[in-house]
Amino acid sequence: MKQFLNDRLPFDGVMAHLRKPLPKHINLLFSLGSLAMFLLLLQAATGAFLALSYTPSPDHAYNAVKYISAEVPFGKFVRGLHHWGASAMVVIVFLHLLRVVLYGSYKAPRELTWVFGVLLLLVTLGFGFTGYLLPWDEKAYWATKVGVEISGKAPILGEWVAKILRGGAEVGAVTLSRFYALHTIWLPWMAFALVGIHLFLVRYYGSSGTPNNTAEEMHSGKPFFPDQVFEDVVGMLIFFVVLACAALFAPVPLEDVADPTNADYDPRPEWYFLFLFQLLKYFQGPFEILGTFVIPTVGMLLLLFLPFLDRSERKVLWKRPIAMTVTSVCVIAIVGLTILGATAPKLETQEETQPADEVQQVTPTDTGPEDTDEEEDVFDFQLTEEEIESAKEVGEEAQ
Ligand code: HEM
Repeated sequence: MKQFLNDRLPFDGVMAHLRKPLPKHINLLFSLGSLAMFLLLLQAATGAFLALSYTPSPDHAYNAVKYISAEVPFGKFVRGLHHWGASAMVVIVFLHLLRVVLYGSYKAPRELTWVFGVLLLLVTLGFGFTGYLLPWDEKAYWATKVGVEISGKAPILGEWVAKILRGGAEVGAVTLSRFYALHTIWLPWMAFALVGIHLFLVRYYGSSGTPNNTAEEMHSGKPFFPDQVFEDVVGMLIFFVVLACAALFAPVPLEDVADPTNADYDPRPEWYFLFLFQLLKYFQGPFEILGTFVIPTVGMLLLLFLPFLDRSERKVLWKRPIAMTVTSVCVIAIVGLTILGATAPKLETQEETQPADEVQQVTPTDTGPEDTDEEEDVFDFQLTEEEIESAKEVGEEAQ
């Protein structure tokens, strides 16, 4: 078999490459990237099973998710793995990024590895944002509505992006289809392409090791295959057991079905977007744009171009005072804002969403001049006269 493969493919060459020794000083933190990759594969596998029973329409999505949890064999477990796996992936990707910062592994010649890593971080967050709408419950609907509204506040392209995401004037059937397509087709393709490039670059430059490796020590550690691969696989199995326990014992939240007239609903995004949500509260009126656009965009651009901005010598983080300070401030700010966001009583953004406006926008007669009849038909999330009246009453009471 080996001979057969060798005659036809560069089998020996690939194996020789994989058996090359790693740097002498590497530790468990160097397995975080492999763990992130494992989680991406787990999300793809569990998502593929969930998709067998899910329907992306406001009439069916919520019931489909209930059906998966209650009726489909192992459905509750697979949904649990997908739900907790998503949060775990954000945590692991973030820790992997911090590991790269800690040892200055983004420095030359690995700038491109870093840039593709940041793109992967954005795709990971994109998975979270688009997946949140799919259960079509209250939190899904309202958090997406607020999230899309925020993206609409960005100058120049903002309103256009918001419209593309919504697929119309309001969050409705088309939005759900679009988020489903992004979540199950666009983002997975992007993720696998980016991971392919990221891993090619990682293998091409070799592991950076810790900065205290001498030139000789860079090639005198254990081989990547089988030693490091074995350790990584053990880490993945342990992590899988933890996730399986979470899937078995921690219930995945599912609130009431989405109700766009529910003015009392307190919208909150998934926990890993809470820091951005909390940030908005400190910038009101003319300064709102700072929270919705300027700070997140500048922060992301600085992160993306970090290797080109920080040209200092490669050392461990605590021997680089400026990098140490900036990293600590960013981590403390993100963690602090997340905690404040999670414990905050009610978000101001909701006050903007009056039920009467809601109703007007989802009613076919009031969708505005640019909406065609065809577009209206697609929105099957429509309300009866009775519902409209009662929503208006609730709105007036709230005022
Ligand atoms: C889905 C997300 C990601 C996956 C699957 C992934 C995967 C990996 C793997 C398997 C490695 C080699 C093992 C290791 O050093 O841990 C690695 C290295 C690396 N990653 Fe990622 N990564 C992801 C996200 C990121 C992010 C967000 C960044 C930074 C912004 C990043 C930057 C890097 C860099 C610079 C290296 C080279 C490290 C070195 O040579 O020491 N990666 N990545």
